[in-house]
Amino acid sequence: MQAVTLVNGSHNLGLDALDRGLAYGDGVFETIALRQGQVQLWQGHCQRLTKGLLRLGLVPDAASAAALVSTLIADVKAAYPVFEAVDGVLKITLTRGVGGRGYAAPQVSQCTRIVTLAPWPSGREGLSTAGVNSRLCCHPWSVNAALAGLKHLNRLDQVMARNEWQDPDIHEGFMLDPEANIISGVMSNVFIEQQGCLLVPALDQCGIAGVMAQEVRHIAEQAGINVKVGQINIAALLNADAVFMTNSLNGIWPVVNLRPSTCQTKTHSWPISDLTVTLQQSLAVRLSQQPLVSQLC
Ligand SMILES: Cc1ncc(COP(=O)(O)O)c(C=O)c1O
Repeated sequence: MQAVTLVNGSHNLGLDALDRGLAYGDGVFETIALRQGQVQLWQGHCQRLTKGLLRLGLVPDAASAAALVSTLIADVKAAYPVFEAVDGVLKITLTRGVGGRGYAAPQVSQCTRIVTLAPWPSGREGLSTAGVNSRLCCHPWSVNAALAGLKHLNRLDQVMARNEWQDPDIHEGFMLDPEANIISGVMSNVFIEQQGCLLVPALDQCGIAGVMAQEVRHIAEQAGINVKVGQINIAALLNADAVFMTNSLNGIWPVVNLRPSTCQTKTHSWPISDLTVTLQQSLAVRLSQQPLVSQLC
C-alpha cells in the first residue's frame, strides 16, 4: 500500500521552494489515526489546528479558519478512496504558504495544505499491553509561553532529543524543561499515577497539548478519577505508582521502565496498574465510535 499525498487538493506534488513552512517552520500540523475507516478524535484535532492557525496568524479570524478546515475535509475525502485502505495515518500540514526572502509575512497569504494518508506503522501492536521502555533525554524543551501547547512545525527540540538514542528497544524518551521538570515524551504526553490520582505536567510554558491526552483526561474525570496539573520532577516520576504516555497513534502506552542514559544511572521499573488498563479499555470503546471519513464535517 502506497502513501497518498495531496498538495492544495492536487496530486501534483510541486511544493514551492519558498514555502514558509520549509523556510521557517511557519505552520502547524496534525497526526491523526485512521482506524477501520474512522477518523479518530477529529474534533480535538480540528480545535488544536484552529487554535494554532489563529495564534500564528495564518488566518485572520475564526471564520477563515473554519473555511480552511472545510477545504481540508474535502482534501481528506478526495485522498481516502485513492488510499484504498481503512487503517492508516492521516497527516495534515498547513503552512503560511509562499513568501519572499526574510521573516516578514506577506500582507495576504495563501496557506499551503498538505494532506497525506500513509500506511499504519507496523511493530507497535504489542506495546500497549507489554508496556514500553523509556529513557531520560538530555536535550530540554525550549520555553516559550506564546507557542506552548501548539503543534507547530518547529520540532527541533524533539529531533535533538530523539537523536540521543538508536536502540530500537527504547520506545520513548522523557523530555524535561530547563528546570528539570518532566514535560512530555519525545512524541507523547505523560501521566503519572499517585495513590489513585493522576498527575500531568503543566504545559503553559512548553509542550504540546495532546489530543489523546485530552481524551484520556476526560475519560478519567468521567470515571471520578482526580486529574491534577502540576510540576513533576524526576523524584516524583521515580516515586510514581505507575506511568503512562499518550498520543494519537499509540493511545495509552504504559511505561514499564526507565533505562540508564547519560542523565540517569540506574534502571527503574514501574508496574502496569489496574487504573491504566481500565483507562485503556474505556478508551478502546470511545475510539471505536468515531466518524467515518465520509461523515467528517
Ligand atoms: C512532543 C509531543 N507531545 C505530545 C504529543 C501527543 O499529541 P497527540 O495526542 O495530539 O498526538 C506529541 C505527538 O506527536 C508530541 O510530539
